[in-house]
Amino acid sequence: MSEKFYVTTPIYYVNDEPHIGHAYTTIAADVLARYHRLRGRDVFFLTGTDEHGIKIVKAAREKGTTPAELADSVVVRFKELWKLLNISNDDFIRTSQQRHEKRVQEIIRRLLQQDEIYRGKYEGWYDEGQEEFVTDFTAAQNDYKSAISGKPLVRYSEESWFFRLSKWINRLIEYIESHERFILPESRRNEILSKLRQGVGDLSISRQIAKLDGWGVPMPNDPEHSVYVWIDALSNYITALGIPEIGDEFDGKASQYWPADIHLIGKDILWFHAVYWPALLMALDMPLPETIFAHGWWTSEGKKMSKSLGNFISFDTIEQICKDYCPDAFRYFLLREVPFGADGDFSLNAFKMRYNNELANDIGNLLSRTVNMIGRYFDGKIPTPAQMELTGIEAEFLNEPLRKLQSQADDMITDCKFSDYIAAVLDLTTATNRYIDKTEPFRLARQPDQQERIATILYTCAEMVRLALFYLTPFMPDKAAEGLAHLGISQDQIELTDEAVKFGQIRPGMSVSGPVSLFPRKI
Ligand code: MSP
Repeated sequence: MSEKFYVTTPIYYVNDEPHIGHAYTTIAADVLARYHRLRGRDVFFLTGTDEHGIKIVKAAREKGTTPAELADSVVVRFKELWKLLNISNDDFIRTSQQRHEKRVQEIIRRLLQQDEIYRGKYEGWYDEGQEEFVTDFTAAQNDYKSAISGKPLVRYSEESWFFRLSKWINRLIEYIESHERFILPESRRNEILSKLRQGVGDLSISRQIAKLDGWGVPMPNDPEHSVYVWIDALSNYITALGIPEIGDEFDGKASQYWPADIHLIGKDILWFHAVYWPALLMALDMPLPETIFAHGWWTSEGKKMSKSLGNFISFDTIEQICKDYCPDAFRYFLLREVPFGADGDFSLNAFKMRYNNELANDIGNLLSRTVNMIGRYFDGKIPTPAQMELTGIEAEFLNEPLRKLQSQADDMITDCKFSDYIAAVLDLTTATNRYIDKTEPFRLARQPDQQERIATILYTCAEMVRLALFYLTPFMPDKAAEGLAHLGISQDQIELTDEAVKFGQIRPGMSVSGPVSLFPRKI
């Protein structure tokens, strides 16, 4: 059987419409899923929605609706956005689904059996926007306001069930120390380690369900309490697969895909993923995910996104950008503009610059001139080169950028170095454009004895365009396929296997079709 690859996004709250932050993680996950599929791997890509918790209950109250109705309507919007952005998820889990609720209760039952849960009293501060407990120290430091939203913290004082989190902390520290790739980027890993070393108490994992208008997964041992929304939410990564370890009927997926290869998340929710989640898995005696990668946050036009400032990149804004440019350009920009892991700023100006400089002038232009010249000088048929390998000036210009892609693409994808990966593709297209400028096939065309030479040049160009578009397919699936169709290559021929990315795969004699303007310039 082929190697498997399991990638997840966070499951998103349904209190409001999707925005650029949700799109960002989901596009990144989609790129990973598509890359691995093109490498021939058996991929499972999961996304979904996080529908319980006080945040949703309050939003529903404010909108004069029920949490269930609110969730249903917002889920439609998420699904619409994923369709617009060409997201290829294999499943979409909603925490209100029965398959999920049933399995969350199984998880709690198992933890109860193992004496990992006890009854106690929670007294302290809570950030309802983040659904997060806040220590007295941090609360005081932030003036009793949320560090994320700035909204006042709420004082909670109630009986609740606790997970023996503290007992797992030493083991967790050891695990993180001995697994370099468990938390990425490294700076985030260090942050988590130093916070863990300061000590961590047990975790309250239940709420009085009455305060949540009855909306939540009831604790199986105490129906007056519902499971804390983060425990409920984190479990999605296994409930979507089925959980044979906790007595669930074997459905084939869990043993095939768990542990996840990578959980992609934003930096604000790393603590939950890097501490609560692995501790729970240890308590359940299940293997831990390979990597948890925390990406940075987007600001918009230089400022923190906010609806009142009018710079919020909402669903509607994204839709407009996709209309003005194309969905693939949006996907491209988000992963190209800043290294994954760092914060970035979204501005329409920067977007247009990258679009014109990189997509239109570099990649698009290379495709268009290649197809035009093959049309003009070889009657639209890919010519036969003097040899099926790069030598002489061809090697001088193109060997290095091509080798770099062939040898480093896998590592760059594994490390989520999306921007570097795209830069490496651009190095190849830029080098090919320069190669054309240097070899001047359009000038040689006036000399009748140069046919063979032009054949080699244009075959080489066609191959470089093919390779660039193959490598770009995970990022821009539609545009890459559209470009490749002009070279006579159909969607099902696109792959990134070692064989497919070798020079010399495109067959002489195949028909190209033009003219083509893949990324029309914008003014
Ligand atoms: N429901 C939880 C996740 C549970 S996962 C088991 C949640 N949902 S969320 O809808 O609030 O946020 C989802 C993601 O959006 C987070 O990863 C967060 O980092 C990301 N972003 C929210 N605003 C963002 C930006 N401005 N920029 C980039 N990502 C941002 O948290």
